[in-house]
Amino acid sequence: MVKRTPLATIDEASLGGEGATAAFDYEDGLGRIHQGFVVRWRGELYAYCNRCPHWSTPLDEHGDELFDHASGVLVCQTHGARFKPDSGECVSGPCMGDSLQKLRVEVAEDGQIEIYRRGLAL
Ligand code: FES
Repeated sequence: MVKRTPLATIDEASLGGEGATAAFDYEDGLGRIHQGFVVRWRGELYAYCNRCPHWSTPLDEHGDELFDHASGVLVCQTHGARFKPDSGECVSGPCMGDSLQKLRVEVAEDGQIEIYRRGLAL
């Protein structure tokens, strides 16, 4: 069996509670470096490329929090697009109907959050 190498790992114990996010960098299949983040939502972990489908800027371009705790959504700080944390779908804003690029999350036995590419997407 071939051992898969995660794109990134994060110590699960370092991630906070509901709505907490943690950033990571990862390399795509062409050697380009991207930013990603993992978010804890309703007891599950989700990971996305940190790039808004509207203008391809990081959601936290202006240094603010990714997650709006009052509304339970991820927010792009550039123009205010709002995304469901469990699917990455934009539910309001200029890219409504588009989605964040989702990454696959696994939690290893040692408590490390492992991030993997989904399918063949870069
Ligand atoms: S760049 Fe994210 S809403 Fe415009």
